[in-house]
Amino acid sequence: MGEEGIPLLITIEGIDGSGKSTLVSALKESLKDLDPLFTREPGSTWVGDAVRRAIAEQADPVTEALLFVADHAAHLEHVVRPALGAGRLVISDRYTDSRYAYQAVMLEGKVPDPAAWLRTLHQGWTVIPDRTFLLLVPVEKALERLPPEKRREHFEDGPFLEKVQENYLALAEAEPARFVLVDALLPPGEIRSFVEGAIRSLAPPRQSRRRR
Ligand code: TYD
Repeated sequence: MGEEGIPLLITIEGIDGSGKSTLVSALKESLKDLDPLFTREPGSTWVGDAVRRAIAEQADPVTEALLFVADHAAHLEHVVRPALGAGRLVISDRYTDSRYAYQAVMLEGKVPDPAAWLRTLHQGWTVIPDRTFLLLVPVEKALERLPPEKRREHFEDGPFLEKVQENYLALAEAEPARFVLVDALLPPGEIRSFVEGAIRSLAPPRQSRRRR
């Protein structure tokens, strides 16, 4: 979709503690003139409540994966597609790559080929992002940044996050044109201006976008 310049779907990914939230709040300020729609997975619709419950109650990995996919379906239907249809720039804090990175680990031993299983689940109806910014930080640094209560969730365990990060890197390697790797150890201001610049180079100014 981004090929013609509009509309654009941008996603931001990274392990827990990689600084996504800090980056997203900074972009909300600095990209105001482009009038982007900021959204997130999980939790942009009521289905997200079911996902949060599944995480809190440590549901079995298949249930959890299907709920994350259900959340994605509702997110696309009620938030992403309408916004793209209206010509808006959409920036999502986490998206399908989070499932390819996290659920692929959770589902090890539960389904024969987790990565293929997850891909098949999304095939034919999802919207592929135009660009994905992947924030990269060593796992030990990421864990230091997490508040103690977060560290207890099963997604925030060191060896688990190492595997998630490996999956992210493999995804980026497989699709170098879509992924932009970001050194998340840089000062927050530098990360913000790098990502902001990259988004601006993709998204034409709001006024010219309106005229089309
Ligand atoms: P979130 O509340 O967005 O946490 P954060 O603000 O730290 O990114 O997401 C909760 C957890 O859900 C997070 O550890 C990543 C995980 N997650 C998946 O495992 N699969 C998914 O598809 C998504 C969107 C998130």
